[in-house]
Amino acid sequence: MPSISIPTSFAGFLLILITRCSYANGCYTSIISFGDSLADTGNLKQLAIISNRVFSVFSPPYGQNFINQSTGRCSNGRLIIDFIAENLGMPLIPPFVQENRGNDVLAFTQGVNYAVAGATALDPSVLEPMGIVNPMTNASLGVQLAWFKQSLPSICNNDSDCRDFIGRSLILMGEIGGNDYNYPILEGKSTQEVEPFVPLVIDSIISAITELIEMGAKSLVVPGNFPIGCSASYLTVCNSENEEYDPITGCLVRLNRFAEYHNKLLQTKLNQVQEVHPDVSIIYADYYNAAMPIYRFPYKFGFTNGALKACCGGEGRYNVNSSMVCGEASATVCDEPNTYVSWDGIHLTEAAYRIIANNLFSMSHFNSLCSTSTSGVGLSISM
Ligand SMILES: *[C@@H]1O[C@H](CO)[C@@H](O)[C@H](O)[C@H]1NC(C)=O
Ligand SMILES: *[C@@H]1O[C@H](CO)[C@@H](O)[C@H](O)[C@H]1NC(C)=O
Ligand SMILES: *[C@@H]1O[C@H](CO)[C@@H](O)[C@H](O)[C@H]1NC(C)=O
Ligand SMILES: *[C@@H]1O[C@H](CO)[C@@H](O)[C@H](O)[C@H]1NC(C)=O
Repeated sequence: MPSISIPTSFAGFLLILITRCSYANGCYTSIISFGDSLADTGNLKQLAIISNRVFSVFSPPYGQNFINQSTGRCSNGRLIIDFIAENLGMPLIPPFVQENRGNDVLAFTQGVNYAVAGATALDPSVLEPMGIVNPMTNASLGVQLAWFKQSLPSICNNDSDCRDFIGRSLILMGEIGGNDYNYPILEGKSTQEVEPFVPLVIDSIISAITELIEMGAKSLVVPGNFPIGCSASYLTVCNSENEEYDPITGCLVRLNRFAEYHNKLLQTKLNQVQEVHPDVSIIYADYYNAAMPIYRFPYKFGFTNGALKACCGGEGRYNVNSSMVCGEASATVCDEPNTYVSWDGIHLTEAAYRIIANNLFSMSHFNSLCSTSTSGVGLSISM
């Protein structure tokens, strides 16, 4: 019989798991979230109410499968962030922007979400000179971070109390940055033209993380970008004989490579921050590879309509049509969203988000979070 020796790296991994889970059951007392529509639980909706603007994503069928209907979530139901909260035994994370917040500030002690649908990592002052206009919101990552600092006095008492609060919180940094590419690419800019933005986007994410660590953050989860070449909107807009399509998934190779480039650079920079702050746990959430199995084997996950066609939208190969936008009267909605991966061409269905969240929790790095659904508080490892 071969002798069993635990590789030192594995022993180190166990040690990290144990030290990371020092905050009793569930580990974290709060979740603090920054990002865009992948994580927004109602901020853009509240901002729009305040400023009298209307977006199609707030109308039915958005939220049709959510407990309280349209919350401003860009899906038919829950998002990855909801499943993460659920998995950690935490309540749903309330949006920071609220018309009449009143006593609800108390609710923030268990979590607060600053993510805004449509938000970019880079400020409009950086994007606009490059010809990129954000039609939805100026609440970029910098603005969200400023909101966070402004709201601290209503959440915690003094500097050391706030450091303690931030240290006991799980910080979800993203996904953010996808829109910095979505706007220019969907408007017709080539990936070569957009590539130079990537280091700038990563820098803005890294500087936000660094600032949060200086404020006392100890646990950060940083998602990468999705395989955007599989998105029904990109497949529609970029549809061309000159494009290379992945023979198994039908996804656009060029755009998936672009997302992988962003993700690789993000991981490199995260590793550098981790080296400088060995006492902080920085977890890269691999949204790309957590989503990829769905595109490779949609039927295995119950997506009997394939992975590429949107549930809500209009005529066209991928059910995406600029004259039939989901949430507008002209659009149609499928009968069974659970059998679709894409909800509206850009955002995914609750069913897809649930599987992606499950896949994340079964990936080695992510499993060091203190999930309540796995016995032994985060110690179940599948590598
Ligand atoms: C749904 O609405 C009810 C009544 O307004 C509220 O008490 C409850 O907290 C809401 N649930 C969620 C998940 O938002
Ligand atoms: C964003 O800010 C600019 C000024 O820099 C303003 O003109 C524009 O209306 C704002 N856009 C949104 C969506 O709030
Ligand atoms: C800060 O707030 C905490 C919690 O309310 C309190 O226990 C502590 O004494 C305060 N520290 C200072 C320096 O005021
Ligand atoms: C969008 O729908 C119109 C008719 O409703 C159709 O003529 C057009 O070809 C569709 N566009 C795409 C991209 O399929």
